[in-house]
Amino acid sequence: MPKFVYNNSMSENLKRVLTGIRPTGPLHLGHYIGALKQWVALQDEYECFFMIADVQALTTHADNPKLIGDSVREVLLDFLAVGLDPTKPHVHFILQSAIPELTELTVYLSMVTPFTWMQSNPTIQQESKDLGKAISTGFMYYPVSQAADILFVSPDPSESSEEVLVPVGEDQVPHLRNTNSIASAFNRTYSPTFNECKPLLGEYPRLVGTDGQSKMSKSLGNCINLKDDEKTVERMIKGMFTDPNRIHPNDPGTVEGNPVFLYHDIFNPNKTEVEDLKKRYKEGTVGDVEVKEKLNVVIQAFLEPIRERRRSAEKMDIKKFLEDGTDFARALAVRTLIRTRKAIHLDYPSLK
Ligand code: TRP
Repeated sequence: MPKFVYNNSMSENLKRVLTGIRPTGPLHLGHYIGALKQWVALQDEYECFFMIADVQALTTHADNPKLIGDSVREVLLDFLAVGLDPTKPHVHFILQSAIPELTELTVYLSMVTPFTWMQSNPTIQQESKDLGKAISTGFMYYPVSQAADILFVSPDPSESSEEVLVPVGEDQVPHLRNTNSIASAFNRTYSPTFNECKPLLGEYPRLVGTDGQSKMSKSLGNCINLKDDEKTVERMIKGMFTDPNRIHPNDPGTVEGNPVFLYHDIFNPNKTEVEDLKKRYKEGTVGDVEVKEKLNVVIQAFLEPIRERRRSAEKMDIKKFLEDGTDFARALAVRTLIRTRKAIHLDYPSLK
């Protein structure tokens, strides 16, 4: 059944949540801990828009469009696997490229965005360093496009002052600051058109990779993907970095900053076991092998229901979920754009 058609009285005045993810591969435990876990918790209370940001993925993968296209399906399956539920009337899966209004909105917002804001954005600076290839113009102003992603769900300030909530990791905070600066510059230059947004930061901003590097990343080969089978997960856990100074199982080891224990802290519900392992590790009475075996049991148990839901999602018409959510969002984008054009006098002013 298609979602109800959008009308003026936005559904029961629920606060709106919008967030997004770039489709450049399957999602991993880092995505779950840093983002998806919180999204799942929000979906019963808010009107939620979960965006697959395929246009933004082009900012870094313009030369690999097939990867982006294929990853849209992977991400959709991962969304369903972790328990996001687009059959709820207030949960919308949306595809960025299927809402062309966002591109138009990006252009208008870019006119009130000093370019220096992009250049001084620390996430842009870091990502440009990491990119390892020439930076495109599209990359440099993607925070403006992200502002459009967020602001298109802003209520009309003349009707409501409710802000848009954006659950994200810490690295996205500079973009949300840009979004708010852009919204107020637009409102100041023209007329009140957008409300502000507010970041919702998760409990664990970042999960280290299995090699102990600061984050999981496909290019570093240090990820455990949500869709990985048992054998792959076991292999990744066996190969995890631990205390580099510990040579023998009876050497006293360090727990702080040790990736295996960071994972135990996050995923192991049996806190007594974790404390016992830590104590014995520090004393040198438990080996890395046992600590990893216990972690393997914990992670497999965590992933099992996710794998199960993924298997059943693979049999569903998942495209329909994305189409319905996107149609719903698009109707809202059209309304926002009418308001925006009006504010900039782009509604055929001389023909009245
Ligand atoms: N920049 C985000 C990331 O890389 C993805 C994203 C696109 C996003 N549009 C968004 C996040 C809007 C929050 C709101 O993960």
